[in-house]
Amino acid sequence: MRINIVAGNWKMNTTVEEGVKLVSETVEKSKDLSNVKLIVAPPFTHLASTGAKIKGTGIGLSSQNCASEAKGAYTGEVSAEMLAGINVEYAIIGHSERREYYNESNEILLKKIKLALANGISPIFCVGENLNEREENRHFEVIKKQIEEVVFYTDENDFEKIIIAYEPVWAIGTGKTATAEQAQEIHSYIRKILSKKFGKKAENTSILYGGSCKPENAKEIFSKPDVDGGLIGGASLNADDFIAIAKSF
Ligand code: PGA
Repeated sequence: MRINIVAGNWKMNTTVEEGVKLVSETVEKSKDLSNVKLIVAPPFTHLASTGAKIKGTGIGLSSQNCASEAKGAYTGEVSAEMLAGINVEYAIIGHSERREYYNESNEILLKKIKLALANGISPIFCVGENLNEREENRHFEVIKKQIEEVVFYTDENDFEKIIIAYEPVWAIGTGKTATAEQAQEIHSYIRKILSKKFGKKAENTSILYGGSCKPENAKEIFSKPDVDGGLIGGASLNADDFIAIAKSF
């Protein structure tokens, strides 16, 4: 069954102390939430301490990345196995900031996705076009390639564990949001591509929208039939805003 998800991508923000406070507030304010799964993605250094705070609450714990290799001489990397060992259940993979600033290609992202899945971690796989690509009307083609070169190489059982996040790069952190119609158009397109390969299973995939999603615009965006929630950056750093977004269903 397809579920509604609101995931908070904290990016490189908060000290451990601030992060623990933020997650405690999020837990407190989320008590009367229903029909939506919350996920938080703090920095690596905060996963153990924030994970302890959300234990037993139903809120999911996600990393923002994982290594593309299983283990060994990769200084500074954190493996999927290490993350699984501290009860991380999800990993954001292929965020546009990773693709752009750290040159993560679809080939690298596929390796990350496979390692996450092999360690029981559900990938939150991000796709999205940049401003040029949208202006040149290439957004469909770009997204199709991102999906086909990565998600199509997973098997059917693994596919069921994947969450997709559509994040138009021009909307991330810019205050510009895709309209609800633009989001729906791409989300239904993504589902159509997925269904070509995975058939009816694509109906169960949660496809999240990300990019300047806020309490003011979440309701309209989430009302669309193929939008199953959001990947929230800036607004997830404020527990009231994050919960207000989750209450938009
Ligand atoms: P934003 O970030 O909500 O701050 O635009 C979203 C994201 O990058 O996941």
